[in-house]
Amino acid sequence: MKKILVTGGCGFIGANLLPMLLDREYEVRVLDSLILGSRDYIKGLDVEFVQGDIRDAGDAARAVRGVDTVIHLAAFGSVVASVEDPKTNFDMNPGGTLNMLQASVEAGVEQFVFSSTGGALIGNAEPPVNEQSLPKPISPYGAGKLACEGYLNAFAGSYGLRTKIMRFANVYGPYSGHKLGAVTAFIKAVHANEPIVLFGDGSASRDFLYTDDLCRGITGVAEADLAPATVLHLASGNETTVLELARLVAATGGRPDHEIVLRDARPGEVQRNFAAFDLARETIGFNPSTGLEEGLARTWDWFREHVL
Ligand SMILES: NC(=O)c1ccc[n+]([C@@H]2O[C@H](COP(=O)([O-])OP(=O)(O)OC[C@H]3O[C@@H](n4cnc5c(N)ncnc54)[C@H](O)[C@@H]3O)[C@@H](O)[C@H]2O)c1
Repeated sequence: MKKILVTGGCGFIGANLLPMLLDREYEVRVLDSLILGSRDYIKGLDVEFVQGDIRDAGDAARAVRGVDTVIHLAAFGSVVASVEDPKTNFDMNPGGTLNMLQASVEAGVEQFVFSSTGGALIGNAEPPVNEQSLPKPISPYGAGKLACEGYLNAFAGSYGLRTKIMRFANVYGPYSGHKLGAVTAFIKAVHANEPIVLFGDGSASRDFLYTDDLCRGITGVAEADLAPATVLHLASGNETTVLELARLVAATGGRPDHEIVLRDARPGEVQRNFAAFDLARETIGFNPSTGLEEGLARTWDWFREHVL
């Protein structure tokens, strides 16, 4: 049985990923500071829990001991918060990632799989973007993820660590009650009968990927034999404007005419983004199959049961 450490395993993506890893018979350890995620999300799962901070050398060393693979999800994940506080973002994301990489090399970890981002890292480019697109991040969050990718490449080159880089689209699904992104905000607004707030004129677009599809992609990346520091976009390949998303969420909640209001666009957020996933399809057979309406219906059901 192989042993995997999932950093940030009590967060949104971690909580969706852990059951899939257990189904595949991995022994799983989680490192999480619980600053954003929740232990309730992983209640009843047969995982070892280590409470600690990815920025702390002692916590990192404790967490990687005896582990074959690190799936590194822990991060400060908000574009808007990174614009307000770029220094904390830097300490958490490039700083925390460098610390986890060093601990992994020292402990003889075989591979290190990293959760990067598509849209925020590449910035305002003509979509669909792919692994050949030139990264020009316009937010500290995007810049920090690009720096992390640089370190993943450097640790493969300098220390022979088998690193892999996944660039996620905008992920949505169960266990996202604490998130600040559009799907969570829109579901909460519709349920509370408050207007859905869009920043900008509603034409900004994103690539929304359902968690089950993403997590199948993560396990595929972890298990694939890839060249060191391979970068793969895990995305739906579909472009959806935030106005379309707002209408879909309202319809899912049974209020198709729900009020939508517009506010000024926020700095640091890209205008259009969606990504092609051909390389992931070719290398790991990535094939996202959950349509947006179906995924939103499942997400709404989870919120109704656990949050609303
Ligand atoms: N959700 C998305 O749409 C999306 C898109 C692109 C990339 N990503 C990346 O995927 C990863 C997971 O995202 P998520 O949506 O699950 O985020 P999340 O905030 O729900 O989960 C992050 C987890 O990391 C933990 N954490 C944060 N800082 C920590 C620290 N210093 N030490 C230890 N634990 C810490 C939090 O408590 C939380 O449980 C992140 O790296 C994020 O940047 C997410």
